[in-house]
Amino acid sequence: MEDRLRSIEDEALEAVAKAQDREAIEQIKVRFLGRKGLLTNILKGLGSLPKEERPKVGKHANQVKVKIEHAIKERLKSIKRQAGPRLIKGFDPTLPGRALPLGHLHPITQVLDEVCSVFERLGFSAAKGPEIELDFYNFEALNIPPDHPARDMQDTFYVDEKVLLRTHTSPIQVRTMEVMKPPIRIIAPGKVYRCDSDITHTPMFHQVEGLMVDRDVSFAHLKGILTHFAQEIFHRDTSVRFRPSFFPFTEPSAEIDIQCVICRGDGCRVCSQTGWLEVLGAGLVHPQVLRNVNIDPEEYSGFAFGLGIERIAMLKYGINDIRLFFDNDLRFLNQF
Ligand code: DAH
Repeated sequence: MEDRLRSIEDEALEAVAKAQDREAIEQIKVRFLGRKGLLTNILKGLGSLPKEERPKVGKHANQVKVKIEHAIKERLKSIKRQAGPRLIKGFDPTLPGRALPLGHLHPITQVLDEVCSVFERLGFSAAKGPEIELDFYNFEALNIPPDHPARDMQDTFYVDEKVLLRTHTSPIQVRTMEVMKPPIRIIAPGKVYRCDSDITHTPMFHQVEGLMVDRDVSFAHLKGILTHFAQEIFHRDTSVRFRPSFFPFTEPSAEIDIQCVICRGDGCRVCSQTGWLEVLGAGLVHPQVLRNVNIDPEEYSGFAFGLGIERIAMLKYGINDIRLFFDNDLRFLNQF
C-alpha cells in the first residue's frame, strides 16, 4: 500500500508539472482527487485494511493528498501568470487603460472666479440680477434718461419697448440698493449683451460690477481698492492710473488704466505705444442715483466700478482675439 501511494504521488506531481492549462489541471484533479479518483479510492478503502495498518496508511494518504493539492494550487498560479496576456487574441489586458479626458473650468469662468475672490477677501459679497432687464434699471434709474446721448454708447438688444438684454451689470447696483440699506459692499458678476462683434467685441460678454455705499466713502477708498485689485490680478507692483471720464451714474467718473502687462510701460503694439491699458470704469455714485433708491446723498456716499472679464483675461494671457473664448476649440481651451 505504501508503494502504491508513493507511485500515485510521483505520477500526480509529474502530471501537474506538465500541465499547460486549467483544463489539464481539472483532469488531474478528477483522476487523483475526484469522487472516484485514485487517491480517494485508497482513503475510502481504509476500512478494509487490518486495524494496525489503518492509521499509518491513512496518515500517508492524507500527506499525499495535501502535496498534490498544494502542487495544483501553485501550478494554477503560474499558468495564470504566464498565460494571462495571451488569453484573449489581439488584446493585452496588462496594458494601461485609456484615461478619460478630464474637463476643467472655462478660462472666462476661471478669471471671473479669481476677480470675485479678490473682492470677497475685502468683504464684498456676491449679488445677482436678471439678464433680461427693464429699461428702467438698465438706463433710467442709472441717470440715463430716454434721450440721453449715453444710450448711443450702448447698442442695445431690445425685447420690446421696456424690456431689453442688460448692456452692463450696473442695473444690479440699483436693484441691490432698493432692497439693502447702507453699509453696502457688493460685487455682481454676470453676462451682458451688446449688438457688437469684432476682434475685441462679442454680442455677449462678462462684467463684474462693484458697489460700496456707507458714510464717508471717498475717492481715496476707490483708489485703494482698485489698486489692490490690479496688483492681485496682474503683477504685485503694477502701477495704476486714474483718468477723468464720464458716466451718467457716477460723479466724478474715472477710467482706470494699468501699466501695460506686455512692455511694462515702455510702449508696445498692445498698448498703442502709450504704456497703459484701460481695464475699468469707476466713480463716486451720482447723488441722483442714490436719490432714485431713497438713499440720502447728504448722509451717504459710495463708489462703483465695472470691468470686463474678457478684457482682463485677454491681457492676463496675451490673447489678441476675444472670439477665441467662444469658438469652443479645445486646442485653445485646453491651454488653461
Ligand atoms: N457700466 C459701465 C460700462 O458698461 C462700466 C462702469 C463704469 C460701471 C463706471 C460702473 C462705473 O459701476 O462706476 O461701460
